[in-house]
Amino acid sequence: MTTKEIKITYQEFNSLDELQPEDQKVAEAAIDAISHSYAPYSRFNVGAAVLLENGTIVKGSNQENAAYPSGLCAERTAMFYASHQYPDQSMTCIAIAAGQHGVLCEHAASPCGACRQVMAQYQTRSGHPMAVLLIGSKKIQKFEKIDDLLPLIFDNI
Ligand code: THU
Repeated sequence: MTTKEIKITYQEFNSLDELQPEDQKVAEAAIDAISHSYAPYSRFNVGAAVLLENGTIVKGSNQENAAYPSGLCAERTAMFYASHQYPDQSMTCIAIAAGQHGVLCEHAASPCGACRQVMAQYQTRSGHPMAVLLIGSKKIQKFEKIDDLLPLIFDNI
């Protein structure tokens, strides 16, 4: 028997100004996307922005429905749209921001398991790492690849 360890590293920033210009752009797009969220049930508004290798930014927001499971998270809304519109473009970064009552949350929403799995598969499909930016008003976290949020990724089939 051997005991193994999985190590995760990420960067933390105090404000958008500390980010690289390209990361800043995708972070701002995620914040902007919050305004298109349709979340009458949770009142938790989430915006996501996907940066493609050609520089295009695709935005998405959470969309809820009275039949609760029919809704979709901001991250998957953005990724599915990006994959449909730009099937040959790698997704190099996804930024996520959340707001409540019109105010950006201090700590960013951390993506749910289903969204992490979808991120993982697009990363595997493209063969390039997809970075993740979690945008809060007081703290921004950057993960260089999906593996850092979803170790032991399922991609066997
Ligand atoms: N939600 C997202 O869109 N992304 C996340 O990372 C966390 C949760 C949405 C789903 C639902 O519309 C609302 O936030 C409350 O869970």
